[in-house]
This record gives sequence, structure tokens and C-alpha cells, in this order.
Amino acid sequence: MIISFVNQKGGVGKTTTAINLAIGLKKKNYNLVFIDADPQGSAVQWHAIEGNKSFEILHHPSPIHATDIRQLSMNYDYVIIDAPPAIGDISKAILAVTDLAIIPLSPSALDVWSCWGTLKMVDEIRPLNSDIEVKLLINRKIPGTKIGRDSREAMKQFQMDVFNTELCQRVAFIDAMTSGVSVMQYAPHSKAAREIERLCEEIIPQVSMEAFQPQVNNQYLDYSKEKIEYFG
Ligand SMILES: Nc1ncnc2c1ncn2[C@@H]1O[C@H](COP(=O)(O)OP(=O)(O)O)[C@@H](O)[C@H]1O
Ligand SMILES: [Mg+2]
Repeated sequence: MIISFVNQKGGVGKTTTAINLAIGLKKKNYNLVFIDADPQGSAVQWHAIEGNKSFEILHHPSPIHATDIRQLSMNYDYVIIDAPPAIGDISKAILAVTDLAIIPLSPSALDVWSCWGTLKMVDEIRPLNSDIEVKLLINRKIPGTKIGRDSREAMKQFQMDVFNTELCQRVAFIDAMTSGVSVMQYAPHSKAAREIERLCEEIIPQVSMEAFQPQVNNQYLDYSKEKIEYFG
């Protein structure tokens, strides 16, 4: 299953949630590979801190080729892709091969406004990948605030599925990243770790809907002349 974290806006938690989800799935003994498709390479930098060997990570900051990614996904339960903060060829190529696109966003007006652009990009690739599933993920919710309480209501305007799990604004997420680990390793009994555990559980049952064979028009991806060096 190919899961990508996309949002044209930076700072919404794509990298943080992608890494924590990856470790959460790994802890459940799923076999996965992580693709850092952001030219900034944040996940690669995180990976380098501890020489974290939890999972294999590939830096691939150019459009992903559908055939290569399919081939790669055959060897793993999950391929997790951390997309760049942009609407562009890289993000579109990622969406064209994605089974489940997760759009993290915080309940702030700026994130909500930028989400429309991300959803428009998803709609543009739908003809190439009609089976793509898209879900919003509330991240950085500030507990005990009205905006936090109203966040789920605010998401209704998108008429999209929203994960029941909400990730709150928690220092553990920041500290874990700084230490080159996940919240499950950094603070296994923390609220942050429990939130990630719940997110994993929401995602895992979808494996049983295994008929994920998105219809991708490879020609669309041909504008990408670059082959994936790492597994091409
Ligand atoms: N749930 C959270 N609680 C606290 N800080 C968070 C949370 N999610 C993300 N952050 C912080 O927000 C910043 C942006 O997150 P990041 O994952 O880099 O976003 P993106 O990949 O979308 O640009 C980082 O400093 C990260 O540590
Ligand atoms: Mg990022």
C-alpha cells in the first residue's frame, strides 16, 4: 500500500506525521520503505541523527515513476512518501501512484485556505488514479481551546473523510524529531505516542481492502525523464 503525506503548505506536519506513522507501523512488524520526496530532505536529516535503522529511507526529490514505485511496493507492506510543500510535478506524480493520500492540517485559517489548493491538485490527478483515497488529518490541535474543539466542524467544509484520530500540539513530537526518533520511542507512554498508535490502527484495517490497483496513465508521468536511481 502506498501512503503519501501531501499538502502544498509547509509546516503542517507532513514529515512529522509520516515519520511517526512509519515507526508505528514498523513496531507492528510491517515491512516498509520511506521515500523522502522533499528536496529539503528533512526526513533524511532526521534519519541521519541517530543513524536510525528502523526503516530504509530513500531521498527522491524528483517525480516518481509509476512503474518503479509499483515494483518497489511489491516488496513492502507499505511505501510511505513524504511529499514536498508545493503543487508541482513531484507532488502530482506522487498522487498519481498513491493509494491513500493523507493531508495533515492544523485548524487554523491559513491551513484551511491552503488545503483547497491541495484538494484541487488531487482532483486534477483523479482521472489518472481514480481509486485514490484521500483523508484529512487534524494535526497540531491545541487542547482546551475553542478553535481546537471546533476543528472537526471546520473540516466539514471540505466534504472529505477526516481521520477520527486527532494529533495535538505536543512537545514530544518536536523533541522526538530533534532526537532522531519517533514519539513511540522517545516517550512510549505519552499522549503523543497514543495518538500515533490510534492513527496506525485507523490505517491498518485498510490493508484488507487490498484491491488497490490505481489506474495510472504512465504517459502522464513521462514528462519525468529522471529515473529513480535508487531502485530504478
Ligand atoms: N503535533 C505536533 N505537535 C507539535 N509540533 C508539531 C506537530 N506536528 C508538527 N510539529 C512541528 O511543526 C513543524 C513543521 O512540521 P513538519 O513535519 O516539518 O511539517 P511539513 O513537513 O508539513 O513542513 C516542525 O517544527 C514540527 O516539529
Ligand atoms: Mg516536510
